[in-house]
Amino acid sequence: MSVGVRVAVVGASGVVGRMMVRILEERHFPVADLKLYATARSAGTAIPFKDAQVIVEETGEAVFDADLVLFAGGDDASRRLAWGAAERGGVAIDNSSTWRLDPRVPLVVPEVNGAALQRHQGVIANPNCCAVALVMALKPLHDAVGIRRCHVATYQSVSGGGLDNMRALLAQSRSLLEVPDALEGGDLQRIAGAAGAEVPVAFNVRPQWRWEANGDTEEEAKIEAETRKMLDADVRVTVTTMRVPVLVGHTLALHLELERPLDPPAARSVLGAAPGVEVVDDPAGGRFPTPLLAAGRDPVYVGLIRPDRAEAHGLRLVVCSDNLRKGAALNAVQIAEHLLAAGRLSARTRAAMP
Ligand SMILES: NC(=O)c1ccc[n+]([C@@H]2O[C@H](COP(=O)([O-])OP(=O)(O)OC[C@H]3O[C@@H](n4cnc5c(N)ncnc54)[C@H](OP(=O)(O)O)[C@@H]3O)[C@@H](O)[C@H]2O)c1
Repeated sequence: MSVGVRVAVVGASGVVGRMMVRILEERHFPVADLKLYATARSAGTAIPFKDAQVIVEETGEAVFDADLVLFAGGDDASRRLAWGAAERGGVAIDNSSTWRLDPRVPLVVPEVNGAALQRHQGVIANPNCCAVALVMALKPLHDAVGIRRCHVATYQSVSGGGLDNMRALLAQSRSLLEVPDALEGGDLQRIAGAAGAEVPVAFNVRPQWRWEANGDTEEEAKIEAETRKMLDADVRVTVTTMRVPVLVGHTLALHLELERPLDPPAARSVLGAAPGVEVVDDPAGGRFPTPLLAAGRDPVYVGLIRPDRAEAHGLRLVVCSDNLRKGAALNAVQIAEHLLAAGRLSARTRAAMP
């Protein structure tokens, strides 16, 4: 028996799957064997891991011979295959939204509710990318003074919608810049039409998710429900989600109604002590959270911490994080690291542990 974890990544050719492979390597996760899966479209693609190139296989009805299966292949793959991976003795960590609200499935950000991992039944859900950043910022404040109400506005990058959305932003930007009168303002609707999209995201701000029957976006509903599941069912959360022409990194503007007062310096010190959170709050010196600061980095950045003077105990702040790292791949690998440290990945890896 070789020491280490047999890992499979489903959706390995996508932005999250590729980031998972990279983070497994970066964090020296003890991988004994790595299998990569996607659809027929990407089967045969080579993805680098350490000194090797791992060839992507078609997922189909794959039966995983793995201790750990990281799912980043969307809802269909997770719905069909996650519990099968668990039944074969592995642990499935799922990035899709399929199982997040299932009562059997812990929904986990290790710094926030890592204890929920103790009762996993083989499938663990990784939260929505904005929900991860949100609970990372809210949890320390909630523990310190209690949060009664939270209003959130998001400014989400296109990579949140996958590789094809990133390509679309670049293509739209290029075609918009080729319109002769673009720099004069011109006829903006005609210019937008030239980008080949009815409501382009390039040079624009727009919602870009499916609509629920009640008029909310699917993304808003996910962030609200997942935040309550991880943080506290009694905290009232309202979210408005928007897509912005940014490649990587999500931004959230929060307005909080607190149960007890907390001034900005005290909030900075509470957040500064929280694991995985970095306070960047010197606006006069040009230091505040931005998606470009967060992109490619692990922390959830928090800043522009100011009073919300419309509330008796109000606080507002801005949060930025890399949606592909902490919002998805990094959080999933951190969950796996927690399970490994607790000897809860599989009988085989337990045997391999010192
Ligand atoms: N992007 C984010 O910031 C983010 C954050 C949190 C969670 N997530 C979730 O992570 C998952 C992946 O998102 P992404 O942004 O990486 O999307 P993406 O760039 O579009 O990649 C999707 C990946 O899934 C594969 N795939 C699609 N349908 C499949 C199927 N039926 N069986 C197996 N593989 C399949 C694709 O393979 P092909 O290349 O062959 O098409 C590709 O590898 C989604 O569930 C998404 O909701 C994304």
